Amino acid sequence: MLAQIPHPIIIAHRGASAHAPENTLAAFELALRQGADAIELDAKLSKDKQVVVIHDQSVERTTEGKGYVNEWTLAELRKLDAGSHFDIAFQGEPIPTLDEVFKAVGQLTFINIELTNYRSPYDQLPERVASLVRRHKLSRRVLFSSFNFLALIRIRQLIPEAPIGLLAPAGWRGLLVRSWVGRLVNYQCLHPDFTDVNARLIDTAHSKGQCILAYTVNLEEDMRRLFQIGVDGIFTDDPALARQTLVEISRSKSII
Ligand code: G3P
Ligand code: MG
Repeated sequence: MLAQIPHPIIIAHRGASAHAPENTLAAFELALRQGADAIELDAKLSKDKQVVVIHDQSVERTTEGKGYVNEWTLAELRKLDAGSHFDIAFQGEPIPTLDEVFKAVGQLTFINIELTNYRSPYDQLPERVASLVRRHKLSRRVLFSSFNFLALIRIRQLIPEAPIGLLAPAGWRGLLVRSWVGRLVNYQCLHPDFTDVNARLIDTAHSKGQCILAYTVNLEEDMRRLFQIGVDGIFTDDPALARQTLVEISRSKSII
């Protein structure tokens, strides 16, 4: 499925998070209306082992709550307001479960599920996510990624048919991840920080049959540079801007 989406792929990072509160149904639905090809979300476990969608390990930046996500039960998390921190117009927007996201947009788009069990790397997140993906029959519509290579190894065992994206931090740490973790996990896409992406990195990946999906690209000039050198896709908070940029590039090519 990933290969069938016309490249470059526009992936809405935490949904259309420049225009709606990140990792909420409002942001995911808006992303699709803005022309995103796919959405990216951050999955982790609540205290009672339900898969919830929230980026930070703590609830404090995006809600009125205090403490770590995995110290809250799902019922408690659901009472939090994950919308007001962005804009009062989104007051009451809840932290979604992965199940809800699948129900809302699972059949409409492609989903990059980042396994974000960075605080509890040995927890049951891969098992819980895999069971939801199976239940919704979405294994051909998801791409898994993580900075936690243990989670990637486990999810590969559980859903071997789904592609894996290796997240690499910026700079020398990214180089280390690419060379060492790359030996432990067979991955189909590399997800580097966009500042590390150049034509050589793209060529090398392509020669190994891998794709490059660069995060997180929010300025038009960066989008243009990456599209020009043949990136396979970008994560962006602003899918509308990315779509408009691609349209302008293709118009200017057809004039020439
Ligand atoms: O997958 C790209 C990006 O989401 C990784 O970083 O911290 O935004 O989850 P972060
Ligand atoms: Mg993420």
